[in-house]
Amino acid sequence: MYSRLIGTGSYLPGPAVTNDDLARRGIDTNDEWISSRTGIKFRHLAAENQTSSDLALEASQRALAAAGRQVADLDLIIVATSTPDYIFPSTACLLQGKLGNQGATAFDVQAVCSGFVYALTIADKFIRSGSHRCALVVGAEVFSHILDWTDRGTCVLFGDGAGAVILEAADQPGLLATALHADGAHHGILSVPGSINNGQVTGDPFLRMDGQAVFKFAVRVLAEVAGECCAAAGIDASQVDWLIPHQANIRIIEATAKKLKTSMEKVVVTVDRHGNTSAASVPLALDEAIRDGRIRSGQKILLEGVGGGFTWGAVLLEY
Ligand code: ACO
Repeated sequence: MYSRLIGTGSYLPGPAVTNDDLARRGIDTNDEWISSRTGIKFRHLAAENQTSSDLALEASQRALAAAGRQVADLDLIIVATSTPDYIFPSTACLLQGKLGNQGATAFDVQAVCSGFVYALTIADKFIRSGSHRCALVVGAEVFSHILDWTDRGTCVLFGDGAGAVILEAADQPGLLATALHADGAHHGILSVPGSINNGQVTGDPFLRMDGQAVFKFAVRVLAEVAGECCAAAGIDASQVDWLIPHQANIRIIEATAKKLKTSMEKVVVTVDRHGNTSAASVPLALDEAIRDGRIRSGQKILLEGVGGGFTWGAVLLEY
């Protein structure tokens, strides 16, 4: 028993917000600084009342349509998000209610920017065990709601969005190999170190980051886990047709590609137009490259995530 990707969908809220738009909104920044350090040109931002489950719903409906499956076919719903609608119930249950599915297993995965790769790996294992047949796996985020808009070092880096895939049981792979890791010793370099206690916010409810520490960590582990995943599938990194790394920063993506000796022509890049959408970044990029025809049937795709925790991981699949 294997799992196979049979459809993708994605959704970006609102109009594109350029770097100059951010400066016009009173942030002490400029297009030259943001573009040269991150590659980001614009991003999409959700409205204040737009939640992760709202974005997830749009992406999920598009993925179901692409896969030719009905809501009732789903027996597993996993949402990767660090910006859930509520403390509980899970965003996956809220999405399930909005979709109108009854009875599927539904839960969230919290692995920040590695969340989608974590969720896809979990869905693969459910399907391969024989317990489930048709999974909806979503990465959905509204990071704009947890940004300190007075901190120019972080608020310019992120965007909102959702990406979704349908994974189904098949007798041919599908997902070829997966690898997931975490090291909680590094929790402090990227976090939202707050909580709610007795109706009050305790700690800091905004995203905080040591950008240079994140940069070094991300490049190292993205290269390592790519090698691990390819080795597990018995292929060389040069046999990968498309690399889809987490879209945090073009310099991290380029440094990772260089370490893997992969040409940037084989790397799907969306960070210029999406910013960093955390758990949504990989499925958004995957959906874009499938819909525009870059990714074709039979090709090998390596998905990679890295994020707060720190967490990191990769999924190698044949499309
Ligand atoms: N506009 C203009 N100037 C700015 C901005 C801004 N938006 N932000 C910071 N600056 C200024 C700082 O105030 C500082 O000025 P100073 O020298 O006068 O004090 C100067 O730019 C340099 O600031 P640094 O924070 O040292 O900038 P750095 O060169 O490290 O670049 C960056 C910051 C782009 C975040 C870099 O560290 C990086 O790429 N890190 C990777 C982290 C990342 O991409 N994180 C995304 C989330 S993590 C993830 O998804 C895995």
